[in-house]
Amino acid sequence: MKVTVVGAGAVGASCAEYIAIKNFASEVVVLDIKEGFAEGKAMDLMQTASLNGFDTKIVGSTNDYSKTAGSDIAVITSGIPRKPGMTREELIGINAGIVKTVSENLIKHSPNVILIVVSNPMDTMTYLVHKTTGLPKNRIIGMGGALDSARFKYRLAEALEAPISDVDGMVIGGHSDTGMVPLTAHATRNSVKVSEFLSEERLEQVAADTKVGGATLTKLLGTSAWYAPGAAVSGLVQAIACDQKKMFPCSTLLEGEYGLNDLCIGVPVILGKDGIEKIVEIELSDAEKAKMQESAAGVSKTNGLLEL
Ligand code: 2OP
Repeated sequence: MKVTVVGAGAVGASCAEYIAIKNFASEVVVLDIKEGFAEGKAMDLMQTASLNGFDTKIVGSTNDYSKTAGSDIAVITSGIPRKPGMTREELIGINAGIVKTVSENLIKHSPNVILIVVSNPMDTMTYLVHKTTGLPKNRIIGMGGALDSARFKYRLAEALEAPISDVDGMVIGGHSDTGMVPLTAHATRNSVKVSEFLSEERLEQVAADTKVGGATLTKLLGTSAWYAPGAAVSGLVQAIACDQKKMFPCSTLLEGEYGLNDLCIGVPVILGKDGIEKIVEIELSDAEKAKMQESAAGVSKTNGLLEL
């Protein structure tokens, strides 16, 4: 199993590290345009192998896509991250060109690759990859919901004063400060609905804190977060590499599911060896449906800024 990570910045390096530590891939290629940078990150990470007990070979490359040839899965993290006060949508101008070129180069060297898009605005970048590459929809996956759900569980555990392993919950919708739809009514603590323990107001606060999860970290760090994005990506990569048939919310092209068409947005999917093997349609309340429609309108508006 060969995995490529494009972009050796904080998010890309964190993806490579978590994938390597989980020890299911034979090789991880990290590629960056900055001379020597990916090679340096790869060497540093390889020097953790004996300490962390993994055998995955990590290789760095300065923009030489021939090194990525034969990749089963490739993760696109390249582009600029947001700075404090910026929305993910503001990155579209620069990142669209980068994501288009990167995906074309990856497919040229790995025609069977499954692509995971992380670059922001992620739902629109995933849609761009659909529009420009012609890959089947099961092989184009946007990573947002897995991360947003992890942030949701963190906030739920905090509110419940419970260990995170007690908590389950999911965020669907667009990966943006206004577009996320944390499914508070479905969230549970050991199969008991969290509404049994938390007031409506507290749950609304959990949802609000979840939606600005990325922005909160950007303000604290001066750039966007990397540990949780890297861990979330590694979970998706492992589910595909190990054919786990696990369910994650991912951004995928909708063709009528959830009453939506012609956009990529976060919904629950089953991930296995073929990438997105199934879109799972869960029953939503009228309020949740309305939030999903509003989120979709926001994503479509950003998609309208693409020069296709
Ligand atoms: C985040 O929310 C990188 O968009 C990503 O942190």
